[in-house]
Amino acid sequence: MHDLSRRLPASAFRYQNGSLHCEGVALDAIADSLGTPFYCYSAGRLRERYRAFAAALAPLGVGIHFAMKANGNQAVLKLFASEGAGTDIVSGGELARSLAAGIPGDRIIFSGVGKTAAEIDAALASGVHQLNVESFEELRLVDAIAARRGVVASVALRINPDVDAETHAKITTGKKDNKFGIDVALLDRLDNEVKALQNVRILGVAAHIGSQIMKATPLIAAYRRLGEIADDLKRRGLPIERIDLGGGFGIPYRGEAELTPASLATAIAQTVAGRGYHLAVEPGRTLVADAGVLVAGVTYVKDAGHMRFLVLDAAMNDLVRPAMYDAHHDIVPVNEPAADADLTEYDVVGPICESSDTFDKHIRLPEMRAGERVVLATAGAYGATMSSTYNARALAPEVLVDGNRFAVIRRRIDIAEQIGWDQVPEWM
Ligand code: LLP
Repeated sequence: MHDLSRRLPASAFRYQNGSLHCEGVALDAIADSLGTPFYCYSAGRLRERYRAFAAALAPLGVGIHFAMKANGNQAVLKLFASEGAGTDIVSGGELARSLAAGIPGDRIIFSGVGKTAAEIDAALASGVHQLNVESFEELRLVDAIAARRGVVASVALRINPDVDAETHAKITTGKKDNKFGIDVALLDRLDNEVKALQNVRILGVAAHIGSQIMKATPLIAAYRRLGEIADDLKRRGLPIERIDLGGGFGIPYRGEAELTPASLATAIAQTVAGRGYHLAVEPGRTLVADAGVLVAGVTYVKDAGHMRFLVLDAAMNDLVRPAMYDAHHDIVPVNEPAADADLTEYDVVGPICESSDTFDKHIRLPEMRAGERVVLATAGAYGATMSSTYNARALAPEVLVDGNRFAVIRRRIDIAEQIGWDQVPEWM
């Protein structure tokens, strides 16, 4: 028996009557009505993941702020909001999306190294729970804007703990030479700074050392460091009462050992829990990744003589992670292969005019035919949110399945609509 669907959580994606379903809905049925490619998310799986984290972390009093950069669709945000989540945002756009989904300001944490004055002002206007400030320059700007508004901003200092997250270099954020956070060595400057700042209340510390972290060890090191810094700043007279542990919890794209909610809870319990601080985490990927797939059609099975290419109608503009981070997404046929089907080696590519438009190489799949469909697994995080219109391609639609029903939660943004975005100068 081929184990092709091993990275698809069985609670959400299963073969039924020979074809892959999301919960009770056949992916073929959605594809027939909508065309391919499209993203498909399982509402049941989203709830299951959120509840697993909430159950592990609630006893430690840890608040969950979904890092919506992983998946910012309004329907997904509403689903998490109704479970009690807040959000972690990184732009004025994400602020607007959170508010529009009914997540109030007091459940929003605003992170990011380059918040503009306009973004800080909008955040203060909506009464955000916390601004995670990443430099003294930003701290002064927040103070000035808060003064103009006549408010006191709730601020956490994002610390750069100089801990190696042991992940891909492009998503490492907690090393000294990354642009993120305030170097621990600079914290002495606070004593002078703080006296001059009347409109910020520094009530917390925060860190986020990277993404797709598979081991508890670097997290434990960062949390321990944060706890020490919080204690130290408190001793120096700052009203520190919160510790924001960031996100970064990895998921098994290739079947690696998972960083479970329980092991995360243990890491928190061993380091910062029970010391009188309000705790928060900012998980993105881990809540949404395996609840989503990208469904694509096979346009050609190209016989190149010495090898075969599966040319899909999905491309790097739809899912950029393989091209950008050498990421792996399992490729699974929608038609259930026979248990004894022979496997053929393929390189799986999209139609875009560059060689980086490759989803995977040398993978073994049953004999595929043009017109068949495949899914790219574990695509619920950083898939749709990182998609683009490169090569004048449509933005793929997003679909949410809940039990036996499905709904389009973002329609296809087709080329006619995109042409309408452009404006030709009058004088042309
Ligand atoms: N908090 C902060 C401050 C962050 O910068 C991030 C992610 C998160 C939370 C959520 O991290 P997560 O739990 O999802 O790992 N586009 C890349 C991932 C970039 C992550 C950036 N920051 C990818 O597709 O792998």
